[in-house]
Amino acid sequence: MIASAINGLTATGTARKTTAMQRIFSGIQPSGIPTLGNYLGAIRNWVALQHDHDCIYCVVDLHAITVWQDPKLLAQQTRELAASIIACGIDPTAHIVFHQSAVAAHVRLAWIFNCVARLGWLNRMTQFKDKAGPDRENVSAGLYVYPNLMAADILAYHATRVPVGDDQRQHLELANDIAQKFNHDYGIDFFPAIEPLILGPAARVMSLRDGMKKMSKSDASDQSRINLSDAPDAIALKIRRAKTDPAPLPGEPAGLEGRPEARNLVGIYAALRDTDPGDVLREHGGKGFGAFKEALAALLIETLRPIAAETRRLLNDPETLDAILRDGAARAAAIAEPIVAEAERLVGFLRV
Ligand code: TYM
Repeated sequence: MIASAINGLTATGTARKTTAMQRIFSGIQPSGIPTLGNYLGAIRNWVALQHDHDCIYCVVDLHAITVWQDPKLLAQQTRELAASIIACGIDPTAHIVFHQSAVAAHVRLAWIFNCVARLGWLNRMTQFKDKAGPDRENVSAGLYVYPNLMAADILAYHATRVPVGDDQRQHLELANDIAQKFNHDYGIDFFPAIEPLILGPAARVMSLRDGMKKMSKSDASDQSRINLSDAPDAIALKIRRAKTDPAPLPGEPAGLEGRPEARNLVGIYAALRDTDPGDVLREHGGKGFGAFKEALAALLIETLRPIAAETRRLLNDPETLDAILRDGAARAAAIAEPIVAEAERLVGFLRV
């Protein structure tokens, strides 16, 4: 399916239902190589949702520059991330894959939302507090209004369902608050409610070095994460070195209480096997981590090897990849443009 999607941009794509489908929007920042957290918390669910939704998946480069990005690397990172998403199984002909800066409607609606959202709402965002750290005076204003742009990403398409990892929950609550306030202020039911889709046993994959910290593509330690591009040897080594505790695996999920590293590895295993932690512990409970880590590494290698190979293949043909993104941006703009134009009309901007 992926090969046909790449070779023929005019292909009709996978078989689709003809009834009106809910629209999905989700995004990912090109601020590094995507991790196992991005895959299990988001991209894998994006793939599954393609079968019964209209999906729009966006590489959010505007969001990425809220923290410093080397301009020599950003464009290539954007391409690499798009390749990686497609390699995971997103069909860019049946659905839309594009990069955010190519569709100006996002920024236009984000400005309106900057004027709708209240400072008090933004002050409560835990992700801003985490990312800004103690030196808050010195971070970009963009980082502060980041959730307003995120709300604009989704609502510019009147998307109603947003598959994300658990860390985005608060941002989606804020997006709903913005939509409601806009509708209230302008006296019209214009923006729909957004339903977060936070799915599966790995909605929050933790660092391999610290079970209390989220796995992140921007963590200083490469040992803390599995990158989707990691070679099999690197994956095996990182899993072998992953922090654990000395006790054997418990027989049931209640036994993972207070054992964040064990809980994390079991959650990853369960997600990869499309099952739940209870099932995994029925099979592996009582065993030490040595054997379990070996099984986990084998499963990871088996899952990620074809994704890394397909990503490399796509990156060897940048012209086709760029054509996919150009086509995606044109189709995205065709949806967002009339919605954002209507929002601007509702606000009262002069049209001459
Ligand atoms: P980003 O780039 O940080 O992450 C992309 C997606 O991956 C999920 N994710 C994780 N899930 C589980 N465990 C983890 N350790 C983990 N790390 C990341 C994220 O929850 C996300 O779903 N603000 C967003 C990007 C964005 C967006 C949007 C998302 C911009 N506009 C509109 C949805 C709708 C972000 O920084 O994702």
